[in-house]
Amino acid sequence: MPRPRNDNFLRALYRQPVTRIPLWLMRQAGRYLPEYCETRKRAGDFLALCKSADLACEVTLQPLARYDLDAAILFSDILTVPDAMGLGLYFETGEGPRFLRPLREELAINDLCAPDPYDRLAYVLDATRAIRKALDNSVPLIGFAGSPYTLACYMVEGGGSKDFRHIKTMLYARPDLLHRILDVTSQAVTAYLNAQIENGAQAVMLFDTWGGSLSGAAYREFSLAYMRKIVAGLHKEREGEKIPAILFTKGGGLWLESIAESGCDAVGLDWTVDLGDARRRVGDKVVLQGNLDPNVLFAPPEIIAREAEKILASYQAAGDDMTGLVFNLGHGISQFTPPEHVCALLKAVHAYPTR
Ligand code: CP3
Repeated sequence: MPRPRNDNFLRALYRQPVTRIPLWLMRQAGRYLPEYCETRKRAGDFLALCKSADLACEVTLQPLARYDLDAAILFSDILTVPDAMGLGLYFETGEGPRFLRPLREELAINDLCAPDPYDRLAYVLDATRAIRKALDNSVPLIGFAGSPYTLACYMVEGGGSKDFRHIKTMLYARPDLLHRILDVTSQAVTAYLNAQIENGAQAVMLFDTWGGSLSGAAYREFSLAYMRKIVAGLHKEREGEKIPAILFTKGGGLWLESIAESGCDAVGLDWTVDLGDARRRVGDKVVLQGNLDPNVLFAPPEIIAREAEKILASYQAAGDDMTGLVFNLGHGISQFTPPEHVCALLKAVHAYPTR
């Protein structure tokens, strides 16, 4: 299988020289794009969009048609995995994701099993193949899944939460039950990511959105340990190309050294960490991905450029060259972002010298 024509994203992850610093955006296909809203309307709702391989492929490509991005990310959601485990995912308009059957009872937790992705998640694999075909080796395709702890937060809470009361009660009062959920979910995520790789994903990323809500000790025991297990179980290469794994724990900056020891190839950082400090802390151990505050994109174009350059200069000052960096936002792009502001970011990052 030939490398993508623009392989700067993979080159950065392999720590090879790049012709420009690669850039993609978390949630790059989403509601800030009018064409996304139009396709979602045609699908009926968000879940129908995820479950149609054709429409998921269409929205994956929308940000790439508009912008000179260096990677595509599979359009789906992290909550498809608990849905496939039988929890009954639905979206209440304006209220985010919900589960019909939250996991609170010991019996239900004991009955939990890891679904075969080729059966219960075949629609994601169909989308993955359709996207690879449509990309025609222009840029690499990123596959993804939620971290076991982040998925467990939604599974136990039954949806989003401000205080994580139910899962934290379980964590402290019945850690055995939470470990059982995390163990089954890790098996599910490992098989799911491997299936994405088998169907064309060229790098994979674990989104640990809520690991940062834990104490350091609980993070290691309930989040990082399971991500480490997943990374160890992933296919390391396909068709002669290495498949890099990226771990992103929002709010995990304090634990960067431990995350870098997990076996992953790259660590995603939110905006609370200085990228130069992060580079000094991990050296050549892992590649870094990040970390512009998504809210910077509300500011005028010249300020967006200046803020991006500050991050790039900080990274540069902490090493010899610009290898080992993938530029991204520190979290998902806001639905209120003016689409034309993304152009200012791309221009600034792509103009930055690579040596
Ligand atoms: O990056 C991409 O473009 C790929 C698509 C992607 C989506 N969700 C699409 C989506 C990815 C990588 C995700 C991951 C995801 N989903 C995470 C982890 C990353 C993060 O943001 O922290 C989480 C926690 C979820 C769960 C989830 N899905 C929530 C909380 C919501 C509601 C958010 C909201 O703003 O209402 C979703 C829905 C969702 N997933 C949307 C998109 C584009 C918006 C749905 C819509 O069109 O109405």
